[in-house]
Amino acid sequence: MNLSPGPDAGKIIIAIDGYSSCGKSTMAKAIAKKLGYRYIDSGAMYRAVTLFVQQHGLSLDDLQSMSEDQLEAMLDHIHVAFHINPDNGHSEVYLNEINVEKKIRDLKVSDWVSPVSAIPVIRHRMVALQQGYGNHKGIVMDGRDIGTMVFPHAELKIFMTANKEVRAKRRFDEFSSKGFMVTMDEVLKNIEDRDFTDTHRSESPLRRAEDAIILDNSNLTEDQQLDFAMKLINEICSK
Ligand code: DC
Repeated sequence: MNLSPGPDAGKIIIAIDGYSSCGKSTMAKAIAKKLGYRYIDSGAMYRAVTLFVQQHGLSLDDLQSMSEDQLEAMLDHIHVAFHINPDNGHSEVYLNEINVEKKIRDLKVSDWVSPVSAIPVIRHRMVALQQGYGNHKGIVMDGRDIGTMVFPHAELKIFMTANKEVRAKRRFDEFSSKGFMVTMDEVLKNIEDRDFTDTHRSESPLRRAEDAIILDNSNLTEDQQLDFAMKLINEICSK
């Protein structure tokens, strides 16, 4: 019998939840890079489903009036996967084998994604996929329900929050740097709408898991946030 530790020994699951545009993915990516862990952006999965819906000419009303069977049949045509971009080392999302990493970030997808992600059948399918990614631990996943629903037993849960104006400015700068034409008011409204929908939906609404550690990063640099997380990780892994 081989009693040496397996390749997953010592690895943990890190769940990062919080409001829109809090910098969850920036911190999650930095942690994953530092630890050599896999990073999964669960929001990108809901965005890819939203893009599919838009590409197929469906309205939100159409979607919301579909039966469970119809939604399941639609989801059978949606294959979401992540692949590493060899040029920058980032995990990027693919919809039916096409890289949609840039397309899913535009304001049209951002405007629809919260109501799309509130549909229970869609959530169940995505949560099952997300849980599959955690089979071997060594993963950092960010989203809205990672610590409460996807990985309730994650060894580390962080709940991120930041002042609304700071978040809107960060998202506006990100849109601008990617060449998307948006106004600050549009970005702020999108953030407010998504916060509302994400916290008020009936199916696994955004909330802090009781054992999640709060990180308000309104006035923190990216390095300070990474230090904060790495201290927690080192404490957990040295136990
Ligand atoms: O993280 P993001 O802003 O890219 O997420 C887009 C939307 O997807 C967000 O408004 C709510 C939804 N979402 C969710 O409901 N559950 C998750 N685990 C991740 C995202």
